[in-house]
Amino acid sequence: MESTRNKLIHLLEQYKETYISGQLLSEKLNISRSAVWKHMKELEKDGYEIEGVSKKGYRILNSPNRMSENTLQWGLKTDWLGKTIVHKEVTTSTQHIAHQLAQEGANHGTIVIADEQTNGKGRMNRQWHSSRGKGIWLSLILRPSILPYLAPQLTLLAATVLTEVIETTTTTNPKIKWPNDILIDRKKVAGILTELQAEQDQIQYVVIGMGINVNHELEDLPVEIQNKASSLQLQTKQSWDIKRLVQQLLFTFEKEYEAYIETGFMGVKRKWEAHSFKIGEQIRVSTLRDKWVAEFSGLADDGALIITNPDHTTQKLYSAEIDW
Ligand code: BTN
Repeated sequence: MESTRNKLIHLLEQYKETYISGQLLSEKLNISRSAVWKHMKELEKDGYEIEGVSKKGYRILNSPNRMSENTLQWGLKTDWLGKTIVHKEVTTSTQHIAHQLAQEGANHGTIVIADEQTNGKGRMNRQWHSSRGKGIWLSLILRPSILPYLAPQLTLLAATVLTEVIETTTTTNPKIKWPNDILIDRKKVAGILTELQAEQDQIQYVVIGMGINVNHELEDLPVEIQNKASSLQLQTKQSWDIKRLVQQLLFTFEKEYEAYIETGFMGVKRKWEAHSFKIGEQIRVSTLRDKWVAEFSGLADDGALIITNPDHTTQKLYSAEIDW
C-alpha cells in the first residue's frame, strides 16, 4: 500500500505547474485539512519550498537537492519498486539493513539506500569503498517466485540494467566483465552483490546490492584501486544527479524484471552478451591444475561462462580465475 506521504508527493508533482487546494488534497488522500498541513510542514523540514496561497492552494517551488525518502519519491515513475524506501545518511552496509528488513517481512520492492557506507561489502568478502554523497549505494529486496537455482540470473539482469542506465544517461559505452563488474574504458565503475535466503525449492528473499561510483574525483578513490576503478564523473568529465540516476535505475530495473518474469532469461542473456567485455576474444583461464588460453564464447543460462577451447570443445566455467 502506498503511504499517504508518497501519494501527497505524487499529487503535488502532478500539479506542480498550478496549485492544488487543501480541500482537494484532503479528499484525494482521505485525511483532514490539518493533517494535510502537517504533512506540508514535514516536507518543509525535509527542505521542500512550498508556497501556500489562500483560495488557490499549495504548490512546490523547489525540491531539495539532497537525498531522502521524499526526494527520491518525487519523480519516481515505478509501480512497485521503491514504494517503500529506507534512506540512511550513514550506515555500515545497506545489505545488512536490507537483510534485517527482509527477515522482518519487508515487501517485495523495498529499497535501502545510503549516502555513505562505513563497511560496504563487495563480492568475495572484499570491502566496497562507499564515500559520502559520491555514489549510489543501494540494496533491493525482492521476493521472486522463481526456483533458487535461477537466482544468479537476477544478478545478470541487474548488470544489464546498470549498463542500460549508464549508457543512456551518460552516452558512454559500459561493458559487463563476467560475472558482473561494470566497466567503462576497462575501469570498474559499478558492481553487484546478490545475496539469497532460500529453502531447497523456494526463495524467501533476494537482496541485490548495487554500488555505482558516480561523482568521484580520482582522490576520492582509495589509492590501491585508482588504476583499475573509476567513476561516471571521471569518465565523462561532468557530475551527475544521483537522485535522477537512482530513479532511472529503479524504473529500468522494474521494467526489465517484469519482462524477465514474464518471458524468461533469453532477453537478459541477449542484452548481457551484447554488452559483454571480451566476448568472442581470447582469455587466459587458470584453475588449480591448469592454465590455458580459450575463446570467451558466451553466457550459460545459469550464469556460467562458456569458453571454446583450442580443440573446439566447449566448456562451462563457474569459478576459474580469468585473466582478462
Ligand atoms: C562488487 O563488485 O564486489 C560488488 C559491490 C557491491 C556494492 C554494493 S553498494 C550497496 C550494497 N551494500 C553493500 O555493502 N554492498 C552493496
